[in-house]
Parts: sequence; C-alpha cells; structure tokens
Amino acid sequence: RQDEREELYGIMDLAARLYRESLERSEEAGTARRYLEARGVDRETSEAYRLGFAPDRWDYLSRHLQHRKVSMELAERLGLVRRREGGGYFDIFRNRLLFAIADIHGRTIGFGGRVLDDSLPKYINSPESPIYHKSDVLFGVHLAKGALREQGSAIVVEGYFDHLALYQAGVRNVVATCGTALTEGHVKLLRRYAGKAYTLFDADSAGRKATVRAIDLFLAENFPAHVVELTQGEDPDSFVKKEGADAFRARLAKARPAFDFLFRDLLGQVNAGTVEGKVKVADELAPRLAKLVNPIERELYVKEIARVLGIDVRSLLRTPGGTAGARPAPLLRPPAERRPRGAGPEEM
Ligand code: CTP
Ligand code: MN
Ligand code: MN
Ligand code: MN
Ligand code: MN
Repeated sequence: RQDEREELYGIMDLAARLYRESLERSEEAGTARRYLEARGVDRETSEAYRLGFAPDRWDYLSRHLQHRKVSMELAERLGLVRRREGGGYFDIFRNRLLFAIADIHGRTIGFGGRVLDDSLPKYINSPESPIYHKSDVLFGVHLAKGALREQGSAIVVEGYFDHLALYQAGVRNVVATCGTALTEGHVKLLRRYAGKAYTLFDADSAGRKATVRAIDLFLAENFPAHVVELTQGEDPDSFVKKEGADAFRARLAKARPAFDFLFRDLLGQVNAGTVEGKVKVADELAPRLAKLVNPIERELYVKEIARVLGIDVRSLLRTPGGTAGARPAPLLRPPAERRPRGAGPEEM
C-alpha cells in the first residue's frame, strides 16, 4: 500500500533526523564526534551522508517515535525497535555511529551502525523491509549518480567508510555493496548510470573472493568490468589516508580488465609449470571464456592463455565448459535487453 510506504519513509526520516541531531549536538555523542574526527571525516561529509549517533540507551528512539504518535508496529518492521516481553518497545541501534542508507532519491531507507571500539559485531544493519530491498540497493548511489553518468563508470567498494573516504578525496562515481555479494539487481542499477564498473574491494582474502564473484556476475551480465588492486592489507579508506588521492588515482589508472585479473590471479595460485597447474587454470577459465560475448575479445584471451600455458588453442576450447560447444556470437548483437542509459524511470 502506497500510504503505508509513505509512512515507512516518514518514520525513517524521523529517525535519521533524531540520530543526526544527537551526533551534532548531544553531549553523549562526544565520543562519536571524536571518533569521526580521528578518522578524518569533516562536517560537510558528515552532513552529506546524514551520519548520526544512537546513544547508549534503550528508549532514545522509541520514546521519540511514541511522542510523535508513530505506528510502532511499522517502526518494528523497519528494524528500528523491537517489542518488549512485558509491553512497550526498545531501540535496536544503541551506542553506534550510524550511516543512513538511502535510495536513489536520497530518502533514508535503512541504517548501518558501527561500534566505536573493537567490540563485535562491528556493524549492524537494518533488515529488509517494504522500502529496503538489499539486492537492489547500493550504498551511496544518491551521492554518486551525477558522477556515474558524467564519467560513465562506477567504482564498487565494500564499505561505508570506503565510500566516504573516496567522496572526501573527490572521487564521486562510487557505490558500496556493504559487505554483501553483488546481485543482478545491483548490475541493473549500475547499468542505468554507467557503462562499466571497477571493483575496488579490500586487499585481503575476503575481498579477493568478492572480486572473483563480482567478475563472474559481470561476465554473466555482459557488463564490462575492471579490477583495481590495492596494497595487501589495505582498503580504499586506509589506502587514501596513507598514500593520498593522487596515489589512489594512479592505482585506478592501472586497473586490469576483469578477465586479465582472473588469469593473473590463477597463475599466482597454481604452479603453471606442471600439468596439474595448467589443467587447473584451463578448467577455471574455459567456462568463463565461453561467457565473453565479444568474439574478438574471446579469441584474444584464448590465444593468450593457450600461449602462456603452452597448450594448443583447440585443447583450451575443448576443455569442459569451454567454448567449443557454445554457439558463436551473432555478428551483430542487438542490445535488446539494454535500456538506453538514462531513459528509464527514476523509480526502481
Ligand atoms: N559489514 C557488515 N557487518 C559486519 C562487517 C562488515 O555489515 N559485521 C559490512 C559493512 O558495510 C562494512 C563492509 O561490510 O562497511 C566491509 O567490511 P569491513 O571491510 O570489515 O569493514 P570496513 O568498511 O573497512 O569498516 P572499518 O573501516 O570501520 O573497519
Ligand atoms: Mn573487508
Ligand atoms: Mn574494509
Ligand atoms: Mn576500513
Ligand atoms: Mn523504489
């Protein structure tokens, strides 16, 4: 129901305002303000991201919402409060720095809340709700959409602070997955604004796995992708802080085409001097080569891989999952399933 959705947006907005007010003015948010300062977040950025603070209390938000005669049932559905055993409600976000998660229009639809120390879980996030479908939302897209269109490309990062740090460094065509796997819905969203993507995940094993998964999705969706690699152990936020914006742009300029990254990455994992290693590389790459739509791109990779492995091109094509049995790409592939950029409706 439309009026229920409006009510849900209204509740989220009330919450965002309250948490924002608390971060800006309340005495108990002093630690949070110092935390942000220590991480180099300035006022303007804090405002742009609608950062907030949930005090260490059980009823900070619930009391406010009840005063405003808000439906607590709906607030519970948004994951902001929970019903108490004996009646009444308590707050879900307590003693956390809050990132407002927004839709394309900038309406707050959820929160991500970070602890201010090393306690766990580091982040808690709003659940799915009628106004928050995680598989269709990328963090920061409302701040990025102009730059996505202008530059024609999207940089995909993992985290809230990564998004924020790049924003402050003047890199604006950025969206964040917030630690979840990239989905078809996300690619669809990206496609509305940009023609290609750069993955820029943390330089650790989780980030590497996320990169390979993202590449497989981009391949399946026929969306051009590049991979940006950082110094081991860094994420975009820590990298920009340590090395500066210029060093970051240099990394970006050195981004590898996704397929190239996959190939090099595999070569780093196996002993390509052995039969076993070569077979492993071919097994991993053959089904992915089959997904390359552009016949020239596919041919060139097939030749390159065969050359490096010292095998015949035909063996690579005959590897299970390879391209031998696949139908050749039509000469002219109609871009039928692609809506022209920017022509779609704003509402998702
Ligand atoms: N994340 C989450 N829940 C967790 C850990 C991570 O939702 N328990 C999400 C958050 O969106 C986070 C992203 O995954 O921003 C990436 O996680 P991680 O790299 O661990 O955190 P950072 O973003 O680097 O956060 P920080 O710099 O504050 O440590
Ligand atoms: Mn990470
Ligand atoms: Mn990180
Ligand atoms: Mn980080
Ligand atoms: Mn919508």
